[in-house]
Amino acid sequence: MSNQIDIEKVNDIMGEIISTIDKSKNQLLDIVETAREEHELLKNELSLIKSEIDRVIGEVDRLTLKDKMVRNKLAEVSKAFKTHSENDIIRAYDAASEVKVELMSANKEEQLLKIRRTALEMSLKRAIKNIQNAEHVVHQVTIAVTYLKGEILSAIDEIGNEGMAMGVRILEAQENERMRISRDIHDGPAQQIASIVMKADFCERIAKQDVDKGLAELSELKDQARKALKEVRGIIHDLRPMSLDDLGLNETVETYTMDFAKENDIQIHVRTGKIVTEIEPIIKVAVYRLVQELLNNIKKHSKCKNVSIQLEYGTKYLRLTVMDDGIGFDVETTLEYLKKKHISYGLLGIYDRVNQFKGEINIHSKLSEGTTVMIKLPVNREVTKHE
Ligand SMILES: Nc1ncnc2c1ncn2[C@@H]1O[C@H](COP(=O)(O)OP(=O)(O)O)[C@@H](O)[C@H]1O
Ligand SMILES: [Mg+2]
Repeated sequence: MSNQIDIEKVNDIMGEIISTIDKSKNQLLDIVETAREEHELLKNELSLIKSEIDRVIGEVDRLTLKDKMVRNKLAEVSKAFKTHSENDIIRAYDAASEVKVELMSANKEEQLLKIRRTALEMSLKRAIKNIQNAEHVVHQVTIAVTYLKGEILSAIDEIGNEGMAMGVRILEAQENERMRISRDIHDGPAQQIASIVMKADFCERIAKQDVDKGLAELSELKDQARKALKEVRGIIHDLRPMSLDDLGLNETVETYTMDFAKENDIQIHVRTGKIVTEIEPIIKVAVYRLVQELLNNIKKHSKCKNVSIQLEYGTKYLRLTVMDDGIGFDVETTLEYLKKKHISYGLLGIYDRVNQFKGEINIHSKLSEGTTVMIKLPVNREVTKHE
């Protein structure tokens, strides 16, 4: 009886803790947003100050030249005072001192602007640091809340008994991915759309005065909207390529690798087999992500010339082989290091993804010969359900 009450109490307390943390998280998100806005403002102000400095420097140059000229003139009239009237000399003297004052004030202005610039640059650095710190805290808090809410249990359930650490890592990877997406949207389309709104406003005002000019602005606006749309599509595609459903796994991997090869100037040879049993959508995404991550590592680390990718299908399993002829690496040592240091999730993510589906992964790598990654995955989760 008393046990029952205790558990209820604990549940209540937990619920309260979770809701408090959730609230704090929202406040933190507000802080991140404010810090981002602050950062934007500072950036704009800095660019204004920079162009102000350019202008003043031009002014100082012009005045320096003028100062030289009026001083020469003054020297000349003073030397030949016999041929010049007293008025000429006074005028030359006045002109010289007027320029001198202007020059001094321009110099002073340049100095002040530069001090302001340095201060702004420092604030900007601090703002960036603040955003990063706040994002980091949000990140940690999100993981903590998810964990407390028990969502972790389902993650662990799916992997089997690999333990909590793996579940937390998966959550962390998800959170990283979310953060990357939010940044992509913030830096790309969100900013473009904001500028489109401003431009539309401008367009409206111009059109009232000059229809042709308004139309020209409108066409620029359309271009910008198109660009934003393209970026949004890019992000959506990154999240989950729709072609996985429309075109299937083979063609999506082929298209992706061909684009990748072209962009990075690497020869990629792709061979795909015939799909025997329909592949479960979640497995398709896993294969696609694995190819993406493996190719990213190849581009980043391997220094290779050729890559070969092979996809073979059986009735129950599929096999993905990715081979490069690059510099290779010590797999064991690297994995040990990555597990200890928590610095990167690329390779560990690959292992986690494969283990999540009870697949198998083997990496053979030889220094200066290259790396071969062989992955075996079930075509659907039913296959390995009772293993
Ligand atoms: N194809 C490859 N060729 C050479 N080295 C590789 C390759 N793939 C991975 N590595 C090595 O494994 C390390 C860990 O990879 P990863 O976990 O993806 O981290 P990151 O790519 O962020 O450095 C890399 O830093 C690199 O040294
Ligand atoms: Mg990597």
